[in-house]
Amino acid sequence: METITETHLSLLHFSKGKVRDTYKIDNDLLMVSTDRLSAFDVVFNEGIPYKGAVLNSLSIFWFLQTRDIIKNHFITDAIPANLPKYLERRSMIVMKAEPIPLESVVRGHITGSALKEYQKDGKVCGIELPKGLKNGDELPHPIFTPSTKAKQGHDQNITEEEAKKLVGETTYNTVKQKSIELYNFAKHHAKKSGLILADTKFEFGYAKNDNGGKQIILIDEALTPDSSRYWLKEKYDAGQLESLDKQFVRDYLEGLKWNKEPPPPPLPKNVIENTSKRYLQAYKMLTGKDLLEVEAPLF
Ligand SMILES: Nc1ncnc2c1ncn2[C@@H]1O[C@H](COP(=O)(O)OP(=O)(O)OP(=O)(O)O)[C@@H](O)[C@H]1O
Ligand SMILES: [Mg+2]
Repeated sequence: METITETHLSLLHFSKGKVRDTYKIDNDLLMVSTDRLSAFDVVFNEGIPYKGAVLNSLSIFWFLQTRDIIKNHFITDAIPANLPKYLERRSMIVMKAEPIPLESVVRGHITGSALKEYQKDGKVCGIELPKGLKNGDELPHPIFTPSTKAKQGHDQNITEEEAKKLVGETTYNTVKQKSIELYNFAKHHAKKSGLILADTKFEFGYAKNDNGGKQIILIDEALTPDSSRYWLKEKYDAGQLESLDKQFVRDYLEGLKWNKEPPPPPLPKNVIENTSKRYLQAYKMLTGKDLLEVEAPLF
């Protein structure tokens, strides 16, 4: 199975993230989701088949449905004809924005880093939570737990006060409110699709509005298995956490004697295949479509 982990397009380079390669096209950006996988902020050498296509197509699926909540950067998935065919399905043209330096995390359930924080002092990002919560438990209501957007290394959870200082109170209030609205919308859809959306992370940016002023829009990716934790509802109801996201890789890595610093250990074939399967299944359950059966070629 061919994967794309590097792109070298003859366009003006804009940025290279852990997963996305971005190029300039006039005033807009071409954002290419590669098949790269990052875990614990380390990028692995192996690609995950279909991952880029799932991230791109699923983001578009959500971008189209959440425009009434907040505008987003998506313009089109039609890629200029002179560019390589392998970009189809894994790329979109987006509006360039000035990223707001905050990871806007919403949690409806407690797990992962939030659980670790909670176990220390009963709080997450300064928010006091009910006593006795266990891994996976649903919170009384979704909480907004912002973190810094580290250029390198790990993002750090911060309190509401710190986040307000970082981005300004008005912007903070907008991204908090919009993040919770987006989460609630997606959570209901996911539930109908047989999935629990445990938590998710959004990014916002400032873009020009029609009057030449500034507006806050949703950027980057939306509600994908990279930015979110999705659990099978059927299993959850039976007391198990079965993830259709990166958790499978994280669990594998936790079992190794690896210090979570580069270089990454090699990923075995079964971990790669299983992760690919989980991403494809999340796509299928959420959209009702099989990515592999859609007519347009993936590569
Ligand atoms: N519309 C946009 N305008 C400008 N920058 C954007 C836009 N959408 C996303 N970005 C930025 O492009 C990058 C996308 O790359 P990717 O998602 O791989 O990065 P990441 O690993 O999550 O974060 P980082 O770039 O910090 O490593 C992010 O830095 C994101 O902030
Ligand atoms: Mg990102």
